[in-house]
Amino acid sequence: MPQLNENFLKLEKNYLFINIAKKVNEFSKAHPEADIIRMGIGDVTQPIAKCVVDAMKKGADEMGVKETFKGYEDSGAGYDFLKEAVSGYYKSFDVDILPEEIRINDGAKSDCGNIVDIFGNDNTVLITDPAYPVYVDTNLMSGRKVIFADSNEENGFAAMPDPNVHADLIYLCSPNNPTGSVYTKDQLKVWIDYAIKNDAIIIYDCAYEAFITEENIPRSIFAVEGARRCAIEMCSLSKTAGFTGMRCGYTVIPNELTAKASDGSEVSISALWGRRQGSKFNGVSYPVQCAAAAVFSPKGIKQTRENIAYYQQNARVIASALDEIGIKYTGGKNSPYIWFKCPNGMGSWEFFDKLLEEANVVGTPGAGFGRNGEGWFRLTAFGDSERTKEAMERFKALKL
Ligand code: MLT
Repeated sequence: MPQLNENFLKLEKNYLFINIAKKVNEFSKAHPEADIIRMGIGDVTQPIAKCVVDAMKKGADEMGVKETFKGYEDSGAGYDFLKEAVSGYYKSFDVDILPEEIRINDGAKSDCGNIVDIFGNDNTVLITDPAYPVYVDTNLMSGRKVIFADSNEENGFAAMPDPNVHADLIYLCSPNNPTGSVYTKDQLKVWIDYAIKNDAIIIYDCAYEAFITEENIPRSIFAVEGARRCAIEMCSLSKTAGFTGMRCGYTVIPNELTAKASDGSEVSISALWGRRQGSKFNGVSYPVQCAAAAVFSPKGIKQTRENIAYYQQNARVIASALDEIGIKYTGGKNSPYIWFKCPNGMGSWEFFDKLLEEANVVGTPGAGFGRNGEGWFRLTAFGDSERTKEAMERFKALKL
């Protein structure tokens, strides 16, 4: 009989968004007449930019012609044309990343979860709380010790390290999911110094960088001095370019990033990750990589920014409704998420039920993202603009 990985038995029974979907389906069955507006899961709704779709079609056509057909991409790390496009994108905000330091993947979630394969199970993992559940879940699955840095109202939901606490791996996400908060360069420098002092590695998730509007907020941890010695960065086209149904992202590991093996030798993190990917991942499809490269073309940037502007307008609608009611929130400015305090001291799930039952609007209970999320709630700006307006009218009409 196989022995189970019983760490899985210690997890919450379902992934957060599966739980929410179940609850919403039950409500919908019981109230078939309800016109439900979904602002829970952070999933995009706007169609992919035309030049990106055209590039994907061209790539698909090439697959049907003998001379241009492609099987496996040799390196498994992605086509050079895409890695060069990503490298050029980094350059546009003054960050130097070599194409060879980039690996193309099927989205940030996979790499955020899978990267733990190359690290031992005795590491102490520091995660800001609240957090994207993938960071906690994937480390608990391997039985690692997880400790938390509190993000809360007092620190503007931007947790900082405690110099008296040691960690080996650190997860940071900016713009943050779920709170929408962002780290400044100075704050990231504190984390980088902490990581270097602790010989730790930061796993930096910047899947929402395209939503940054403030000039002084870094779009990459590599915009901050010292990061190349201690950080891995993961980004995705899911939110930048509407790729949640297409699947494409990228992970950056600087050539000089190493960690010590137990025999004292320095091991390249990039080489180790490449070894893991070589055995477990066969790459992203050619047409999708063609589409992804088009995202970084001048036309692609212009067209995808139009969708981002659309979502940013939704964020303003949500924020101004909350302002009107007098509810405190973070996010919205550099992020598609608005994170607010549940009215009248309600619990997160209590407010979830109220909003669903009385306004037929679905959000995400903050408690689903960790201990510090209790009493808070997340709405996404990824919806249709008219539906977002309608949802906020219903919200304002709630008897609070
Ligand atoms: C979220 O709602 O937090 C998103 O679904 C994150 C993701 O893309 O997995």
